[in-house]
Amino acid sequence: MRVIRAKDYKDMSRKAANLISAQIILKPDAVLGLATGSTPIGIYEQLVDWYQKGDIDFSNSMSVNLDEYCGLPAKHPESYHYFMQKFFFSHINIQPQHTFLPDGMEKDTQKECTRYSTLIRSLGGIDLQLLGLGHNGHIGFNEPSDHFSADVHVVTLTESTIQANKRFFGSADDVPRQAYTMGIRTILQAKRIVMAVSGKEKAFIVREAFLGKITPAIPASILQLHPDVWLVGDAEALSEIPEGTL
Ligand code: F6R
Repeated sequence: MRVIRAKDYKDMSRKAANLISAQIILKPDAVLGLATGSTPIGIYEQLVDWYQKGDIDFSNSMSVNLDEYCGLPAKHPESYHYFMQKFFFSHINIQPQHTFLPDGMEKDTQKECTRYSTLIRSLGGIDLQLLGLGHNGHIGFNEPSDHFSADVHVVTLTESTIQANKRFFGSADDVPRQAYTMGIRTILQAKRIVMAVSGKEKAFIVREAFLGKITPAIPASILQLHPDVWLVGDAEALSEIPEGTL
């Protein structure tokens, strides 16, 4: 585990974007595992800026997203398809046919889980997986549980996640109740993991996930077992990780 300490959100975004950029430079046809949510927006903005300056070329890169809400079409402004277009894909030269997300509109959930797992394997696995961290320790939509779910699966969102995500929808009632997500094994099979965290409201869960015991009650705690994790956080989010402990 490596910890990269940033001053603030902008600095954290630049440092995390640097790791992604380095990955693309070292391996132009890298498979990037991507995340949505508030945290990565600054990272995508930074990457777009470098792309526009001619410093990064995504033309051979591929991407697979962590998750997607069930029942939201790609055109829905809160779907993760839409998010990725809005903040990233429409601004860079990644080829549309090289970007993949679960299909939230597929009603045959078993079929969709198998399709997405098979697809990720067929790309040769994920070179770098970008993750955010839920307030309850979730990664992707792997919610706290009494077990770790391995492969792509459908989850029922917890009340805490519905409450956290209602800011994007009109009200909590409008937040979809289910989502497709990569499983814990899918995430752990990524060769490198970059977790981005920002803000003091994440400090407690960052400490529990990285200094606490490994438990499915805090899904991110499993990352302690991955050999190549980079925790990139601003001073507030890392305030409960004393220097030198990781
Ligand atoms: C999003 C995702 C989620 C978020 C997490 C943190 O694709 O997989 O696990 O990373 O909910 O969200 P923010 O960044 O909004 O705090």
